[in-house]
Amino acid sequence: MLDWSETTAATPLPTPLALKSQPAIDQTGLGVIDRAGGRVSVDHKRMINCRADVNQLLPLKYRWAWEKYLAGCNNHWMPTEVSMQADIALWKSRDGLTEDERRAIKRNLGFFAASESLVANNIVLAIYRHLTNPECRQYLLRQSFEEAVHTHTFQYIVESLGLDEGELFNMYREVPSITDKAAWALQHTQHLEDPDFRTGTPEADQAFLRDLVAFYVIFEGMWFYTGFAQILSLGRRNKMVGIAEQYQYILRDESIHLNFGIDVINQIKIENPHLWTKAFQEEIRAMIRIAAELEAAYGRDTMPRGFLGLNAALCETYMHFIANRRCAQLGLSRVFDETENPFPWMSEAMDLKKEKNFFETRVIEYQNGGALDWG
Ligand SMILES: [Fe+2]
Ligand SMILES: [Fe+2]
Repeated sequence: MLDWSETTAATPLPTPLALKSQPAIDQTGLGVIDRAGGRVSVDHKRMINCRADVNQLLPLKYRWAWEKYLAGCNNHWMPTEVSMQADIALWKSRDGLTEDERRAIKRNLGFFAASESLVANNIVLAIYRHLTNPECRQYLLRQSFEEAVHTHTFQYIVESLGLDEGELFNMYREVPSITDKAAWALQHTQHLEDPDFRTGTPEADQAFLRDLVAFYVIFEGMWFYTGFAQILSLGRRNKMVGIAEQYQYILRDESIHLNFGIDVINQIKIENPHLWTKAFQEEIRAMIRIAAELEAAYGRDTMPRGFLGLNAALCETYMHFIANRRCAQLGLSRVFDETENPFPWMSEAMDLKKEKNFFETRVIEYQNGGALDWG
């Protein structure tokens, strides 16, 4: 029979003498409870390698992380709330879309379909373990759900348009210009998902920063943006308006993901200035430059001839503009010559609230406590 008595539960595990004065860092929050541990103060909280209990959200230290969690919750949406009727009619019509447009749409969907899962897996299996701050983890839990909603969007699009699901979801392994991007980002996360990987040395902490840059700044903050520009450009010409609307909601979520990542990296820099060496800064700038080149190759592959208002050269210029902007956000000097934004309408598309309030255009009754049927 199970014995629930206090004595059994309280039996301390043998602890090596050396660890008694300096307890090992419990980065997961799932270690043995430190019964003598004092209350957490904000001064004890750290982004990485924190010694304070990671299970205590309050007191908040990083209010920006909490604010982003609240903003994410306020932006809740589901892909199935967007009508796909116009898209279905256009996709099935003989001459509504050119072959070039169809190719760009399919490759775009194929890139995003698997990328949303790659980003989600990186958050849950790599980033979450090593970011030792409860308010940041609270945001990561919200972000993980949003990535699930984004993956759901591609399932919904495939189902609505009757696309070949295998072709679309396996595209990241079949189309070299998509594979090259995913493979490049994944090399920065592979050792982090190793169960023996620990932060706490300058080399390991820099490896963690590289992963943050690869996924937050490059994957979500650069590559996704040219993807959004492609679909929103079609939407502006009244083509695939359902997908374009879904992409606007994804873009709204992703702009918070990106800004969270930038804030995380900058806060780690403040707390660990020894990591942000000149050589390391150059390495990050080189990562951003290579990522922009991979994106330019993807642009040439998806839009070999270009179509109304959009072509590979414009997308490359846009990528240079975005790459320089990301450098500035990280406090780095730019990697490309200064350039104008060729898609100024993208910044308007990002400010969705100004254009259209999601909850004012639809009557959505989310089930709340009062609406639950317990019968
Ligand atoms: Fe996403
Ligand atoms: Fe994201």
